[in-house]
Amino acid sequence: MIPQVNKIFEEAQIAISGVSSRANFDNAKSKILGPNGIFRELMQLLPRLSKEERPSVGQAINACKNEVEEMFKNKLIEIESNESRAFLGQSIDPTLPSTSNEDIFCHPLTKIKNRIIEIFSNLGFNTVEGPEIETEWFCFDALSTPESHPSRDEHDTFYFNRDVSIENISKKGDEQYVLRTHTSTVQIRTMLQRKPPIRILSPGMVFRRDAIDATHYPTFHQCEGLVVGEGITVCDLKSILDFFFKKLTGEGSEIRMRPSFFPFVSPGFEVDFRSKNLGKLSNRWIEICGCGMVAPSVFKNCGYGSDKISGFAFGMGIERLAMLLYGIDDIRLFFQNDTRFLKQFKLSML
Ligand code: DAH
Repeated sequence: MIPQVNKIFEEAQIAISGVSSRANFDNAKSKILGPNGIFRELMQLLPRLSKEERPSVGQAINACKNEVEEMFKNKLIEIESNESRAFLGQSIDPTLPSTSNEDIFCHPLTKIKNRIIEIFSNLGFNTVEGPEIETEWFCFDALSTPESHPSRDEHDTFYFNRDVSIENISKKGDEQYVLRTHTSTVQIRTMLQRKPPIRILSPGMVFRRDAIDATHYPTFHQCEGLVVGEGITVCDLKSILDFFFKKLTGEGSEIRMRPSFFPFVSPGFEVDFRSKNLGKLSNRWIEICGCGMVAPSVFKNCGYGSDKISGFAFGMGIERLAMLLYGIDDIRLFFQNDTRFLKQFKLSML
């Protein structure tokens, strides 16, 4: 009986080594290990053996069967790796870009941010980023925002403990680190590093101690703009913003500027825009952006002495723009990562 087991083992070995495709594999496996396969037949012979012979033959059959199963497992791995090699080699060049944007999604805030960058970069603005952890000086003092200003209140701003020290961001005196409350900090960082002409855009995350509701979230995004040079006027500011909103929301849009107060600009303005393409909100004036001419005190803080230099700055909220453009009525949706929401924003759509 044992020679018979050895013979079957040899037959199985030959059969398995001849297998080269999945169809062959399934066929061979069922002939050898299947319910009507040769091992089953072999097992059925066991009861006919003598009591003495049975255990050793049984063990030999089981050992042989285990080995054959192992050989089939290895064969399957070989077939699968050949299949995927053939598939990759023939029909996919993984270095090529996807042929379709159909199912590629992009977070609405990223879409709007990219659109803002694209429009301003066509006007010669460079994108510059600044740190989210700032010192009080960059966030407030350098922007002429006095101690008494509400944005410096503990209830409005995330302060770090006084004894925290953070690498690469030096503190003056005993000022505290804060999570920046606006991207206007990048105006100061840029002017300290560069001489005019300057034309930058700075998108990024900002933080305020706002209670969460449909229009407030403690983390949100702004986009700051700064232009500094000789002979820059309010006309330049207005025409650039007008151009921007027309590009963003279509030719039917207009802006208006109302006098307003921000400590770091003089004069300062609030910009409203209206557009024909905003669904329910079409043709209504909507407050959208703060701006103004850079205040002399800010230039002084950055070491700019010349009288010939002037400039303007503006800052807008990216969530607010996205909510208006896409008709989103709850800011929390941006941060919940609910795919039912996110899947509405394909990369290919505006
Ligand atoms: N930083 C202001 C804020 O967060 C927005 C702003 C207003 C930015 C006027 C500016 C500006 O550059 O000129 O509310």
